[in-house]
Amino acid sequence: MKPAIVFGTRPEIIKLPPVVRAFEKEGIRPLLIHTGQHYDYEMSNVFLEELELQRIDYHLEVGSGSQAEQTGKAMIKIERVLMDEKPDVTIVQGDTNTVLAGALASVKLRIPVAHVEAGLRSFDRTMPEEINRVLTDHASDVLFPPTEEARRNLEREGITENVYVTGNTIVDAVLQNSEIAEQKSRILEELSLKPKGYILITAHRAENTDSRENLEKLIGIFESLSLPAVYPMHPRTENRLKAFGLWERVGQIKDLIVTKPLGYLDFLRLQKNAKIVMTDSGGVQEESIILNVPCLTLRYNTERPETIEAGGNVLVGLEKERVLEYVNRLIEDEEFYKRMANAPNPFGDGKAGERIASILLGMYDGGKLVVRS
Ligand code: UD1
Ligand code: UDP
Repeated sequence: MKPAIVFGTRPEIIKLPPVVRAFEKEGIRPLLIHTGQHYDYEMSNVFLEELELQRIDYHLEVGSGSQAEQTGKAMIKIERVLMDEKPDVTIVQGDTNTVLAGALASVKLRIPVAHVEAGLRSFDRTMPEEINRVLTDHASDVLFPPTEEARRNLEREGITENVYVTGNTIVDAVLQNSEIAEQKSRILEELSLKPKGYILITAHRAENTDSRENLEKLIGIFESLSLPAVYPMHPRTENRLKAFGLWERVGQIKDLIVTKPLGYLDFLRLQKNAKIVMTDSGGVQEESIILNVPCLTLRYNTERPETIEAGGNVLVGLEKERVLEYVNRLIEDEEFYKRMANAPNPFGDGKAGERIASILLGMYDGGKLVVRS
């Protein structure tokens, strides 16, 4: 069997190695196609190195651009590779423009598409990711929702064939790397941070960083925190802060350390030892419940409602009073802190990668992937 894996951004580079490894264990070497949607060393190569994914077969160098420009460029370049290589299945993961481009290019060539992390819904069509999720799910032949809740979202949209609940490969990634992170990373020492003595922040979503008003709300929150905080900043956020003339103001916030985006081992160690995580990231919401760190999500909706229902995550939005109410409660109320920190992980047992590879191999018959439709 010849699987092709299309990826291009930080979260995909982190969440796909468990699938690659599972195929390799079976003696199969998937074709690796990197679109180059993320290209800075800190957004791509650092992860390829740490997660040993350096043998990329095709690097498409798509880069940044408007939604259509980026998606269109990626589609054109992916199509050429798929036509040359004729894989049996194209695997994509998540909800980025790379994912939609990979799925559309593949399905139109009648090469089956398998979508890892299918069925997530924020029900907010203003997010480019929501459009990507819905369209990719409907273009896919095999769907791997991480949870029952995600599977039900697919069912409500009439997608019931070839749907397999597998857990999320982020659990595999965290389990495979958190010990290594504890041993190898020196990030706490480098930044002079004490375990459980700081808040870890990430925020990069378009809805939070593309408007000056929302960026100012975020800054207002960071200015009022009662614990030291560390913010490894996504280049999108840095660029927007500079464009709006807000960069200097961020630099002046007392007890806020802003760093470049961090490698996975440093970030995992920082996350595991944080008192509180504050984020708008999807993957970071997942990881914090896996690592038993309370998560405050700087958004008004989430496509990961399982984390809220389990009690490990709260949608605090961007209103300072509400955010600070939760931060202070977590610092002052030990019982409340423990309840959030001990929320059960809803994303599975860390064997999602193996399940995905084994299901796809089981569908391979007579020289091709046999999918019901
Ligand atoms: C994309 C995903 C988002 C995901 C995020 C992961 C889409 C629509 N969005 O958002 O769902 O959470 O990746 O991090 O696909 N930039 C750099 N260097 C890089 C990459 C980006 O400077 O290596 C800057 C550029 O100014 C670029 C901007 O960041 O225009 C946005 O990058 P883009 O890939 O369009 O989207 P993300 O915000 O990264
Ligand atoms: N991450 C990282 N370094 C950072 C910030 C995040 O390694 O400086 C990891 C994080 O551990 C998680 C993933 O990046 O696994 C999340 O990616 P991101 O927030 O960019 O995208 P999203 O999950 O929101 O799509």
